[in-house]
Amino acid sequence: MCGVEVDGKVAVVTGAASGMGLAMAHTFANSGMKVVLADIEDDVLNQVTTELSEAGHNVIGVRTDVSQLEEVQALAEQTLKKFGAVHVLCNNAGVGVGAPVGNTSIADWKWTLDIDLWGPIYGVETFLPLIEEQGEGHINSTASMAGLYAGASLGAYNVAKHGVVALMASLERDLRWRDSKVRASVLCPGPINTNIVDSERNRDPDDAAKHTDSEQGQKFWDFLTRTLASGMDPAEVGPMVLDAIVNEKFWILTHPEMGEIAVNQSRAMLEDQRLTR
Ligand code: NAI
Repeated sequence: MCGVEVDGKVAVVTGAASGMGLAMAHTFANSGMKVVLADIEDDVLNQVTTELSEAGHNVIGVRTDVSQLEEVQALAEQTLKKFGAVHVLCNNAGVGVGAPVGNTSIADWKWTLDIDLWGPIYGVETFLPLIEEQGEGHINSTASMAGLYAGASLGAYNVAKHGVVALMASLERDLRWRDSKVRASVLCPGPINTNIVDSERNRDPDDAAKHTDSEQGQKFWDFLTRTLASGMDPAEVGPMVLDAIVNEKFWILTHPEMGEIAVNQSRAMLEDQRLTR
């Protein structure tokens, strides 16, 4: 069924204080949705939530660390307490560390996977039954092109984002299996001009950044910083996610031309069994 009505529905967005999450919150609010903004960075969260409220939108902010199951459960409780229902969840919060496999500290593996993969898993497990109670709804997670193609210097992030793509594809197929009216989708952005390159701002300083320990990781991070600075405006991404919800699309690629890299890899897998560069 296409043309899902979103006006008056309740959406929860994680990582909503910045970048693409903030863009989703704006797009949803402008479409008449009630929005719960969740983020770990509470001063910025308070600021953006106040701005949306003052513009007349029905929103709340809930400080949430998505890597903690009990905080995701508390987010669901706050949502139901305020709005009485939940129809849409966007598991968008994420961080990144640039480091090659073999040179990634265990702390970096855990930090990345806890937020980028366990966050969406906790989100799905907590919110899916609540959304299914409504008889309709949608769960979107933000993966990355790094969820479709594992490039160099980003091992932990690639593993997490491949996991997010697998989580959402598994979820969508499970939902179809049982004829659920709830749908799932995955956002795989290319370069977007956000604050992701400054992910460490939300990290315990004692558990410090490690990509500077590796020349390859640091070089890659400098390249990524330059690339994202000229990337797409995150404001363009909010409407893409809304379109997938309204028109029940699964894949959301902000830069579809970059999808060729995954197609080429699959083709080479079948043709000569070698990994493309
Ligand atoms: P951003 O840094 O502007 O926004 C991410 C938000 O997540 C921040 O507000 C941050 O405070 C929040 N956050 C971090 N850790 C958290 C935690 N433990 N619990 C709750 N909130 C937390 O970055 P951006 O780019 O908007 O990131 C959104 C998503 O997009 C992430 O999942 C990222 O991996 C993904 N992505 C970004 C791309 C880009 O080019 N910017 C490309 C592909 C994927």
